[in-house]
Amino acid sequence: MQLIDSNTFLNLARSYSSECQAMVRYKFIEYGARYNGYNALAEIIDKVVYNEFNHARTLYTHIQDASKEQIDNIDISAGTPFREKWDLTDNLRLAALDEEKEAKIYKTFAKEAAKEGFPKEEFLFNELAKIEDTHKKLFLDLHKQMLQGTMYKKDKNVKWKCIGCGYESFSNEAFETCPVCGAKQGQVGLIIKG
Ligand SMILES: [Fe+2]
Ligand SMILES: [Fe+2]
Repeated sequence: MQLIDSNTFLNLARSYSSECQAMVRYKFIEYGARYNGYNALAEIIDKVVYNEFNHARTLYTHIQDASKEQIDNIDISAGTPFREKWDLTDNLRLAALDEEKEAKIYKTFAKEAAKEGFPKEEFLFNELAKIEDTHKKLFLDLHKQMLQGTMYKKDKNVKWKCIGCGYESFSNEAFETCPVCGAKQGQVGLIIKG
């Protein structure tokens, strides 16, 4: 069977669509973080946005490589999560749920690719499942920190860095205002655990 005639091909298109949507949903969360002054949090989420972009790019490449002809349209039926509203903290929890679901779906897509005889796609789906699982853990951790107010307050001394000017301090609580450039606490990122 050729990839273009397989269900794995449709799964690539479903996954591409899902990655594009995840990228935009996390961009919304990043926007919310910046809007609320959590710039360091926004920087972390931006890295996830970039991961999803690259997942979409890779899936798109697999789709394009399946045909020498121009692909005008691929008809797919796929669910679309719309859980997130505009609550920054809760959106981190919901993003973790999205990631968990995505990881499960990728594992089933990997099995289907193996059954249909497409080892490259099997590998891709399995690796994407692992990455989405790390995203889930990251979102859960960020949600916990926001919920418990521990994003800028730890139970031991840690190293903080102002993402504005690079000033560093070592304490259990991030500085309210950077003594060098005056940036607010939301600009402070944790860089090394003490
Ligand atoms: Fe992804
Ligand atoms: Fe993800």
